[in-house]
Amino acid sequence: MAAPLKVCIVGSGNWGSAIARIIGTNAQKLQHFATTVKMWVYEEMVNDKKLSEIINTEHENVKYLPGYKLPKNVVAVPQLRDAAEGADLLVFVVPHQFIRKLCDEMVGCVSEKARGITLIKGIDEGPEGLKLISDIIREKMGIDISVLMGANIANEVAAEKFCESTIGCKVLENGLLFKELLQTPNFRITVVDDADTVELCGALKNIVAVGAGFCDGLQCGDNTKAAVIRLGLMEMIAFAKLFSKDDSVCSATFLESCGVADLITTCYGGRNRCVAEAFAKTGKSIEELEKEMLNGQKLQGPLTSAEVYHILKQKDLVDKYVGSICFNYCINSAW
Ligand SMILES: NC(=O)c1ccc[n+]([C@@H]2O[C@H](COP(=O)([O-])OP(=O)(O)OC[C@H]3O[C@@H](n4cnc5c(N)ncnc54)[C@H](O)[C@@H]3O)[C@@H](O)[C@H]2O)c1
Repeated sequence: MAAPLKVCIVGSGNWGSAIARIIGTNAQKLQHFATTVKMWVYEEMVNDKKLSEIINTEHENVKYLPGYKLPKNVVAVPQLRDAAEGADLLVFVVPHQFIRKLCDEMVGCVSEKARGITLIKGIDEGPEGLKLISDIIREKMGIDISVLMGANIANEVAAEKFCESTIGCKVLENGLLFKELLQTPNFRITVVDDADTVELCGALKNIVAVGAGFCDGLQCGDNTKAAVIRLGLMEMIAFAKLFSKDDSVCSATFLESCGVADLITTCYGGRNRCVAEAFAKTGKSIEELEKEMLNGQKLQGPLTSAEVYHILKQKDLVDKYVGSICFNYCINSAW
């Protein structure tokens, strides 16, 4: 029998900790995954104690997912290379601005046979224009990468409320393997082969959520907010088609959890909407509000807005996207 597959979770924020609860529980039950799951923790002090030590003694990420226990087989590791060394399966779940640096740190300690999945919602804007987070990981680490995106607000997943999610993969076998690792009776996963579209959906909906938050803050009403969401979805589709590497964008992917469902949940419940509402009401900068409202969590929408804005500007397409109004707001505010 093949050796059980070792899993490493790269990240331990709000979503990272919620997904660690699922992975830890499944790794205990399913024989072909090693029981111990390493979770890399960006070390910080919480009430004069190291966060990694708190997690390993109290089995709770008291800073990013308070109130929910982690399975005891999830072990917090503060050194990234120690966490990733020898891993067969890597789950990337950090705010997207940190991914390049973390991949650079891991080079050489992960086999090319390892497989990865990214849960990171964001894009990167390089000199050559749009860059997907999965492309960065694939290029830097030389491993196959799937993506998981969906209507998955971390605290609700941690509370085991029913939801759906989408895995997009380039290699079907790998997508199905990650489905096994991540699915539970209340966290239902569909696997599709349109990986780039799945990933773009996850990143772009955060921009629409910022627009939805502005609507709430400016008290525009539900009809206007629905119009912003509809136009946002149209622009997500147009943007995905414009930047598709191989004309592979499938419209049906937008009807999966990663598309319309994630858009709805983010425009009503997510942190991007919430902070954008406060931005419109108070006039404080996005950066100030992030510090005040999010207790160390990172906002992805404004940063992604700025990146998309720059990409559209390079192509002289800003006027074609209503969302550029949001991009402008955000850029003038903090980024
Ligand atoms: N939270 C959600 O509900 C949710 C749901 C789906 C997807 N996501 C996506 O998952 C990704 C991770 O989000 P999250 O909610 O787990 O994170 P988070 O915003 O809760 O936490 C921030 C994390 O970044 C780490 N960090 C801070 N400074 C760092 C540095 N200099 N270098 C490296 N790491 C540093 C912190 O330790 C913490 O683990 C994001 O792309 C997000 O869009 C989040």
